[in-house]
Amino acid sequence: MRQDLIYFDNAATVWPKPECVYRFMDQFYRTHGVNPGRSGYDLAIEAGSMLANLRQRLTKFFGGDEDTPERLIFSYNVTDALNLIIPGLLDAGDHVITTNLEHNSVIRPVNHMVRDHRCEATYLPFDSAGFIDPKDVRKAIRRNTKVVIVNHGSNVIGTVQPLREIGSICREHGLTFVVDSAQSAGIIPIRMKEMDVDVVAFTGHKALMGSMGIGGLCVRKHVEVRQVRAGGTGVRSVESYHLEEYPWRLEFGTPNLVGVAALWAGQDWLDEHGVERVYAHEMRLASKLVEGLRAIDGVQLYCCDNLQNHLSTILMNIAGVDPADVGTILDVDHNIATRTGLHCAPLVHRQLGLVENHGGVRFSVGAFNTDAEVDAAIHGVSEIARWARERAVKPAKVVPIAPAEEQPVRLMA
Ligand SMILES: Cc1ncc(COP(=O)(O)O)c(C=O)c1O
Repeated sequence: MRQDLIYFDNAATVWPKPECVYRFMDQFYRTHGVNPGRSGYDLAIEAGSMLANLRQRLTKFFGGDEDTPERLIFSYNVTDALNLIIPGLLDAGDHVITTNLEHNSVIRPVNHMVRDHRCEATYLPFDSAGFIDPKDVRKAIRRNTKVVIVNHGSNVIGTVQPLREIGSICREHGLTFVVDSAQSAGIIPIRMKEMDVDVVAFTGHKALMGSMGIGGLCVRKHVEVRQVRAGGTGVRSVESYHLEEYPWRLEFGTPNLVGVAALWAGQDWLDEHGVERVYAHEMRLASKLVEGLRAIDGVQLYCCDNLQNHLSTILMNIAGVDPADVGTILDVDHNIATRTGLHCAPLVHRQLGLVENHGGVRFSVGAFNTDAEVDAAIHGVSEIARWARERAVKPAKVVPIAPAEEQPVRLMA
C-alpha cells in the first residue's frame, strides 16, 4: 500500500476502509465461510443468520418497512441492483422520469429499454446550482408514467436532491419512486417511509464502509417487482421456476457472504462514529477545499457556490489545461489521487458544456482525509494553475521555416 498517497477519490470507492471492517471480513470468512441458507448444520444456519440480521439492520437504516426485512435483497453492487429493479418495474408502454444527474448505471439500462421499445423516458435537467426542481417532475408526468428514478447525491457535482418533495409528488400520482443512494448512503440519512421513497438501491463499497462486490435494494412492501433472472435459491429445489417470495425473488445463487460481513462491520463503524459526524467532518474539509480553490486564478468550480445540500464532492477545471493532464500532474508531482473525465455520468457534463473539454477534475473528500491533505490539494492545484498562466502569457517559440527555394532539393532514391 502506498502510505503517502493522498486519496481524494472517495466517490469512486471509499478507501481505506475502517480497520474493523478488514478484521471482521477476515475473521468471519475464516469461521463462517460456508454456503448460507443451503444446509441444515449449525454453521450454515449461523452464516444464514448474518444475512437475515443484516437485512433487518439495513431496512431500519434506510427507514423501510421493518416488518418485511426479506425485501432487503443483496446484489453485487448498485449497478446490478438497478438492473434488477428497472426492468422489474417497467412494462412496455410505461414511461419513466429520470434526470441528467444519473450515473450510467441508470442511464444505460433505461436507454436499452427505450431502444428496445420496452418503455419511454424523460430526462430532467438540473438548475444552474445543480438541483432538480420538483415542479419539473410534476410537469413531466404523463398518463403512462410509472416510475421516477433520482440520483440522491451526484457523483460529479455533489448536489443532494430533495427526496421528500419529489417523493410526495410520486405518492400523490401513484408513481414508484426509486432512489440511487450510491453516493449518499452512509452520509445523508434516507428515511424511506417519511420521504415516500419506494425503492432504495445501494452499493456496499462507498460510505456504507463495506466491501466491493455487495450492494442491494430495499423495496417497500407495496411495490410489485417482476423477477428478471432465475437460478438456485438453496430452498425448494424441486420447483421448476424461480421462487416468487422475497428475498429469493430478487436473489440468485450463492451470496457474497464476505461482502455481507463487511457491510455488517461497516454498520458497526457508522453506529460508533455517527453518520452526521462523518458528514460534518467531510463538509468542513470540502468547504476549506472550495475556499482554497476559489482563490486560485484560472480555477473554475462547478455547482458549489453554496454547500448546503451538498456532498463533499467537488468538480473543477483549470483554464487551458486538459482535466486528464491536471489529474496526471496531481498524481505524478503531488501524489494526489483524483478522478478526471466524465465520471460515468455524461449527461451532467453535457449539460455543463464540458464534454468537449473532456469533463473535469473531481476531488471527493472522505471520512479519513485531513486538513493537511486538503492544504496539499490546494497547493498542487495552485502550482498547476500558475504553470498554466505562465504558459499562456509566454508565446510559443516560433521556429522559422526556410523559404521553399532555399530548401535543399532531395532526390528520390
Ligand atoms: C450515483 C452512482 N450510481 C451508481 C454508481 C455505480 O456504483 P457501483 O459501481 O458500485 O455499481 C456510482 C458509482 O460511482 C454512483 O456514483
